[in-house]
Order: sequence, then structure tokens, then C-alpha cells
Amino acid sequence: MKPGMSLIKHYLQFKDFRAEEYAYLFERAATIKTRFKNYEKYTPLVDRTLAMIFEKASTRTRVSFEAGMYQMGGSVVNLTTGDSQLGRAEPIEDSARVISRMVDIVMIRTYEQTKLDAFAAHSRVPVINGLTNEYHPCQILADVFTFIEQRGSIKGKVVAWVGDGNNMANTWLQAADILGFTLHVSTPGGYEIDAKLGSVNNPACVKTFNHPMEACEGAHLVTTDVWTSMGYEAENDARMKAFVDWCVDRDMMAAARPDALFMHCLPAHRGEEVEAEVIDGPQSVVWDEAENRMHVQKALMEYLLIGRIG
Ligand code: CP
Ligand code: NVA
Repeated sequence: MKPGMSLIKHYLQFKDFRAEEYAYLFERAATIKTRFKNYEKYTPLVDRTLAMIFEKASTRTRVSFEAGMYQMGGSVVNLTTGDSQLGRAEPIEDSARVISRMVDIVMIRTYEQTKLDAFAAHSRVPVINGLTNEYHPCQILADVFTFIEQRGSIKGKVVAWVGDGNNMANTWLQAADILGFTLHVSTPGGYEIDAKLGSVNNPACVKTFNHPMEACEGAHLVTTDVWTSMGYEAENDARMKAFVDWCVDRDMMAAARPDALFMHCLPAHRGEEVEAEVIDGPQSVVWDEAENRMHVQKALMEYLLIGRIG
């Protein structure tokens, strides 16, 4: 590694940024979103190129990063495992050395976090986590931004996580620790958050509950995710049985605060992790949540490539 390479700012986990940086990013995303809604052209990333590497499927991440980069004046290269040498066992370190000599920023969706970390360690340019088995920081960036848009500061609030102790749950936990809210977690036995991945500085930011209804009590936000994440398909049958009581339904929403929001990172499976009446109901903000991926990621790319504006 060349001297100075470690000074590059990456976004590999939610805990890579401080609360004060998030405050800036949420303000900035709001400004960028307002300008976009007013059809104001804003192209600070002319001549910059984003490489996107997908080792797993995607709809939202692909479209939000690609559309966002073009809107900011830049261009995009899309690579998948199947159509690049990544699928033919070229070492990730070599891929990082090569790709980062040709583009200005890289977004990666892959399996193990260690693979993302290895790429970042050998990259000359900023690297963004577009989802790993362990974390999904861009999604929680959008989710917290969506909460703030709807309800104001998330500090001191209660977020209920119902379902799998997965990449989303791990990232919510890091967010609770950094942004000062409480995460109520209810997972089936055997699917708890891995204590190592979800390690926090402030243990009081998380409370665990055996019953999902209890986790939802008093929550300002109830959120869930698929029962079987990408890469875990072989466990699908066992998961369908284990998670049957962890479907977010109207009773759970009724246990939360009357003004509680419902979020889901999508894609959703109605009748599994959430009832149709909840995700398609008045408390659900899932479409804003999905759209906001683009606005927050534009703010994130601007921050990583240019730094603070104003
Ligand atoms: N929420 C999310 O990351 O969606 P995609 O898998 O479609 O990118
Ligand atoms: N936990 C899910 C999130 C999909 C956006 C997965 O990893 O498949």
C-alpha cells in the first residue's frame, strides 16, 4: 500500500462516520433532494466515474446509484460477477488495484465484509458498501433520513426491529449507538444479532425481546426485512418455519405509538415478514424510503469525492 492511501475516506460500515458527519449528510441530502424536485440541474461530478460491482442481485441499489451519478454529471461502469474476471477468481486485491486506477469511486455489493475490506485496502479511491452479508449502511442512511423527514430527529426515539438478525439489523444497531436512539430487537431463537458484528459502545442502545409484540411497544418506527437474505437461500425452508410468528401485522403496529412509521428496505414478501395491510397501509413510508436511497447516496458520493459544500 502506498503511503497516504489510508487517508482515503471509505464508507464500509455505518460506524465509519461520526454523528456530526451524519448531521451534515442529512442536511445535504435534503438540499440535493429539494433541488432535484425543483428540476434544478446540479452537476458537481462531471468527469467523475463510479464503478459498481454487483456480486448479488439488485434493483434499488443499482438504479439509485446509477441515476444519482448521472444526475450529478458523472458516468457509471457496471460490473457483475458473471461478466467480469471477478467470477473467474481474479484476486479481489488485484481487481481493486486495477479498477481504482480508472475510476473515481467504487460501490460494491458482495458476500463477506472481509472481501469489501480487502478491496478498500487496495483501492486508490473511495469505496462504498452497497450491501454485504454483514452490513447495509446506505440503506440505513436512507431510512434514518426518511425518519427525519417525517418525524424530525431520531435521537431518543425507539426503533423496533422484528425478524432476522441480519445485515440490516447489524447496521441499525450501529446507527442506534452513533445517533443516540434505542433499538428494540426481536428475532427467533438462533437468528439473533451476532454480538461481534453488532458491538456497540453504549450497551443501553439495544434491548432484546422474545416476543415481537413486546419489541413494538412504544416504538416510533417498526421495521423488518426478508426472512431469507441473499446468500442464505439453502436455509429457506427452516427459516419459513422459524420466522412464522415474526410477521409484522396490524396488532404489532397497534402496540407501537399511534404515529409509528413502518419501513422495509425492500424487496418485500407480503404474507411473510409483513402483512399487506401494513406495508400498503397509511403508516408505511416504504416508497419514500426507496426513493431516498438516491438522494442520500448523491450526498454521500459528493462528500466522499469533494468534501463538505459551503
Ligand atoms: N434495498 C435494497 O438494497 O434493494 P436492492 O436489493 O433492490 O438493491
Ligand atoms: N437482508 C436483505 C436485504 C436486501 C436489500 C439481503 O441481504 O438480501
